[in-house]
Amino acid sequence: FTASTVDIDGRKFNRDKWTNVNPNILKYLNRNLHLKPGHPLCLLRENIISFMYKSFPNHAGNPIFSVFDRLNPIVTTKQNFDSLLIPQDHPSRTLSDCYYLNKDFILRGHTSSHQEELIASGLDSFVVMGDVYRRDEIDASHFPVFHQAEGVRLFAKHQLHDIDKEKVELFENGKRTPHKQEHHTELTSDKLQHELKTCLTKLVHHLFGNDVETRWTETYFPFTHPSFELEVKFQDKWLELLGCGVIEQQILYNAGVPDKVGWAFGLGLERIAMRLYEIPDIRLFWSNDSGFLSQFQGATPNQKITYKSVSQYPQCFNDVSFWLPEGGINSSDVYEIVRGVGGDIVEQVRLVDEFLHPKTKKRSQCFRIIYRHMERTLTQAEVGKVHERIKAQLAADLGVTLR
Ligand code: PHE
Repeated sequence: FTASTVDIDGRKFNRDKWTNVNPNILKYLNRNLHLKPGHPLCLLRENIISFMYKSFPNHAGNPIFSVFDRLNPIVTTKQNFDSLLIPQDHPSRTLSDCYYLNKDFILRGHTSSHQEELIASGLDSFVVMGDVYRRDEIDASHFPVFHQAEGVRLFAKHQLHDIDKEKVELFENGKRTPHKQEHHTELTSDKLQHELKTCLTKLVHHLFGNDVETRWTETYFPFTHPSFELEVKFQDKWLELLGCGVIEQQILYNAGVPDKVGWAFGLGLERIAMRLYEIPDIRLFWSNDSGFLSQFQGATPNQKITYKSVSQYPQCFNDVSFWLPEGGINSSDVYEIVRGVGGDIVEQVRLVDEFLHPKTKKRSQCFRIIYRHMERTLTQAEVGKVHERIKAQLAADLGVTLR
């Protein structure tokens, strides 16, 4: 029996064929780790805010950025996609990528969902921070809930260009090139990119120190052009920290500010906090264990802290093999069910084998589930029980035939 509505904090959402939220994901909704004093994500939030405040003062020395860190993570699909010009057939809209309450409401997949409404309300400079939800693979750096910080800054003509010295316009009726939008003059686009990159390079230096190596790569987002990613060198590997770009002018038209231009960025807080504090596993952020939390209690936002793991408990793994039903299955459904039944003791799920039976033409898959408790050693018997429940749930929900 499934109720006909999803009930959250007194609101009722009618279920439809889009509904794919489950109690396991909904229980994260009010955790607000980024607002929990002494939590590493809260320290990082405070650190980023103080950087933005300090870097962008007005004439009187007061910060120009407004901060929104309590916006409801339940947003409309309009906010999450349409307002950002994300095409109807874009992969980020699919059921295997996000959590739908129903056709019209979703757990936000990024903090960009709030861009248009905040711009339309008259704001020029703001930061949004909060929890975002994505169906994804399972490993030490992925969790279906994580946190983002979004920055948006708009400029009127006189704020971007020196109108006394330069004879320039914000806009032109030109061509879109890899470096600019059709409506922006070359100089407008150049200056926006320069302002954006300067702000973010300074932020990264503020967080990681001046010695950190950085590089820019070009990328694509439906809501910015040109678009970039900023990567930092970490233990000899390039790590992607954030996405950003020049806001698509159409978004500003739609928000009722056709006479301004702007930039936006979105960065992942866990990614940064894991490097800053040397936190080895993303699940630790959700721990209520004092062994974890006490290491950050009472710290100041820019204090250097290195997390020390209390001890390393052994991993334990079990495989599950099955024949796929006709039409196949979606591996995010497998991850979801494994996480739903196994909870936090599931560290990783990997597809380890796949084959096609030559005669029956049936396809078989084998997933390896790696279990590890963050705070104690799991017994094989205990893991065995959970594993059996996962197998039963996979068979019941996906129609696979266990082997
Ligand atoms: N919303 C994008 C993401 O989650 C990041 C982004 C924000 C990119 C703002 C450009 C501008 O990946």
